[in-house]
Amino acid sequence: MRSSVVLLLPIALLLFAGITPAAAQLVEGFYGKTCPNVEAIVREEMEKIIGAAPSLAGPLLRLHFHDCFVRGCDASVLLNSTEGNLAERDAKPNKSLRGFSSVDRVKAKIEAACPNTVSCADVLTIMARDAVVLAKGPFWPVTLGRRDGTVSSAVEAANELPPSSGDIPQLTKIFASKGLDLKDLVVLSGAHTLGTAHCPSYADRLYNFSSSYAAGPMLDSEYAEKLKMRCKSVDDKAMLSEMDPGSYKTFDTSYYRHVSKRRGLFQSDAALLTDATTRDYVQRIATGKFDDEFFRDFSESMMKMGNVAVLTGAEGEIRKKCYVPNN
Ligand code: HEM
Repeated sequence: MRSSVVLLLPIALLLFAGITPAAAQLVEGFYGKTCPNVEAIVREEMEKIIGAAPSLAGPLLRLHFHDCFVRGCDASVLLNSTEGNLAERDAKPNKSLRGFSSVDRVKAKIEAACPNTVSCADVLTIMARDAVVLAKGPFWPVTLGRRDGTVSSAVEAANELPPSSGDIPQLTKIFASKGLDLKDLVVLSGAHTLGTAHCPSYADRLYNFSSSYAAGPMLDSEYAEKLKMRCKSVDDKAMLSEMDPGSYKTFDTSYYRHVSKRRGLFQSDAALLTDATTRDYVQRIATGKFDDEFFRDFSESMMKMGNVAVLTGAEGEIRKKCYVPNN
C-alpha cells in the first residue's frame, strides 16, 4: 500500500500542475543530438510552401488541431484509409482538410537528413507553428518527442471534433475532454483569422431559421445577405467564404472584430458572444489595443493543445511515411 502511494505521488504532483506524465516528457530540443537541424529544415520548406501558396497556412494549422483532438497529437489524421478501415481523414468533418501533400514533402526532407528519427506528429506540430509565424502571427517554442500512432478511425473523428453548430456548453465539454478550458476555446477560435470555409459549414444560419443562431440577433442581417450571394443553398459545396474577410491570409485580431459585430461565420464563432467570459475576451481583443496579449495567449493555448494525449517513449512508432504505419 505504502509503496504504491510513493510511486503515485510524483504523478499526482504532475497532474496537480496540469501536466500529464506523457506531456512532461516532451522537451524543447528533443532532437538536439539526433536531428539538430529539424526545425531549420521544416522552416526552409515551409517558407517555400507558404511563399508559393499563402492560403495553405490555415489548412496546415487546422490539420494539427484535428490531429490533436482525435487520439491526441499522434499524426493519426494523416493515415490513409485501408480496406476495412475508414481513417480519420475520410470522416465527414475532415473532408475539407488540406495540406497533406505538404506534410509528406516536409517529412521526406526530414527523412533524407535524419532517417527514422523525427515523428510525423512532431513535423506537423512544427509546421503548424511555422504556418502561423509565416502568416505574420506569433512564434512559440515547440516541445518535441511525440511518437506516431498506428490507429486512425473515422468514427472517432466524427464523434470528437467540435461541430460548427456547437454552442458554448457543447464546445466547453469537448474542449474540457482534451484538457482545454474556456479561455483556450475563445483564444484558439482566433485561428479562424486564417482560412476559408465551405457553405455547408454555415448555411444553416442562412436558410434554416429555426436555428437560434440564424440571421437576427446572432447574425448581422447585412452580412447574412452577403453570405447568401456566395452560398446559394445548403447543398452548395463548391463556394468558399473567408472566415476573416479582408485578411484571411494574415494572422491578426480582426477575426474578433467580425465576431463582436455579429459577423462570425459559424455558430461556434457566434456562440462566443453568449457567455460572459468569452464575450469579454472577444470584445477586449476586438478593440485592437491588445494584439500582443492575444498573440501570447494563442501561443500558450497552442502549446497546451500540442500536448494533448501525446504518445512518448516506447509508445507508438516513428513513421517513415506519414500516410501509412511502418508495417
Ligand atoms: C471551437 C471549435 C471549432 C470549430 C467548431 C471549428 C470549425 C471549423 C469549420 C466548420 C471550418 C470550415 C471547414 C470548411 O467548411 O471547409 C473551420 C476551418 C478552420 N479552422 Fe476551425 N473550428 C474550431 C476550432 C479551431 C481551432 C482550435 C483551430 C486551430 C487552432 C482551427 C483552425 C481552423 C482553420 C485555420 C480553418 C481554415 C481552414 C482552411 O482554410 O481550409 N479551428 N473550422
